[in-house]
Amino acid sequence: MASASFLKSSPVLDKSEWIKGQTLRQPSVSVVRCQPVAPSSLLVRASSYADELVKTAKTIASPGRGILAMDESNATCGKRLASIGLENTEANRQAYRTLLVSAPGLGQYISGAILFEETLYQSTTEGKKMVDVLVEQNIVPGIKVDKGLVPLAGSNNESWCQGLDGLASRSAAYYQQGARFAKWRTVVSIPNGPSALAVKEAAWGLARYAAISQDNGLVPIVEPEILLDGDHGIDRTFEVAQKVWAEVFFYLAENNVMFEGILLKPSMVTPGAECKDRATPEQVADYTLKLLSRRIPPAVPGIMFLSGGQSEVEATLNLNAMNQSPNPWHVSFSYARALQNTCLKTWGGRPENVKAAQDSLLVRAKANSLAQLGKYTGEGESEEAKKGMFVKGYVY
Ligand code: 13P
Repeated sequence: MASASFLKSSPVLDKSEWIKGQTLRQPSVSVVRCQPVAPSSLLVRASSYADELVKTAKTIASPGRGILAMDESNATCGKRLASIGLENTEANRQAYRTLLVSAPGLGQYISGAILFEETLYQSTTEGKKMVDVLVEQNIVPGIKVDKGLVPLAGSNNESWCQGLDGLASRSAAYYQQGARFAKWRTVVSIPNGPSALAVKEAAWGLARYAAISQDNGLVPIVEPEILLDGDHGIDRTFEVAQKVWAEVFFYLAENNVMFEGILLKPSMVTPGAECKDRATPEQVADYTLKLLSRRIPPAVPGIMFLSGGQSEVEATLNLNAMNQSPNPWHVSFSYARALQNTCLKTWGGRPENVKAAQDSLLVRAKANSLAQLGKYTGEGESEEAKKGMFVKGYVY
């Protein structure tokens, strides 16, 4: 499989990979040698996927659209279903996800949907492949590829994200099944440090995942979630976020990831959930845009925020505040809880509520679409949509 990276410097390659002065051993990779052969030569490797990755990323980062994150693991989906009194069965997960993907006209506001592996291979209750329903809606199917968080030995009770083993072959299979982008969520905890070790591990894991995804035709969403947990103020979040993104981009570059073919999924810069001082949408926007402009190259096509436990309305207001003047990147959303909460409650597991639930999803999707364009007014929002969803120590 060809590499998606177009810049490769020789320190990345073992010297034994050179066949003196000619080419790399991998026959499928075309190599343009820019300098005479020397250990420090700069190589340009063209990828069969490079153009497609750029196109996919641009499609997802299209005006007035964002991502529906519906990639809850079976365990997390079970918690969602339990909240409306449903059992965590495959049939119930299928019914709920059918409702989401088949909401009429969803593609007007939603450009991509992140799926859990079960959903990628699943059919709707009407027997159509979920992936096909999304494509008909003009929504790009994506896949959560990480294998979740486990304790990071040697750290301050922090965690690291598993999933690199076998990732290349899994990614190739996901591409065959119709996925065109991927998501890997790792977390950084402010109250637990974060330790230098945890930040480095998070950044390195994201970079390896991103390189492997691009190599297999999937646009990687790079998501180092800085958790809302804690009573720290917004300045502390800003400080940690700067450190985290500096390391993430250092390792992305070191792994020859093509920035034009990635998407980011950051947390907004806010005070900790238990901080007494709350921030207005304008303050959140100021801090977050300052962070992005200091750390994120304009080559990156899209910044798709997570909601992280904010209420539906809060997440939309914050996004809207960030889009009051033009940005170098498409600034949009990739929300799970902040798109699904009212929809799930409205459904309540009852077939007669499917249409009303789909309407609630469309209301949220449209509100965030307007916020992406900087035109959301906040009028007519329900009380349910204003309820915060922060859960201490949340796992996805
Ligand atoms: P939330 O928007 O609920 O924080 O979910 C983010 C996420 O990573 C889902 O893909």
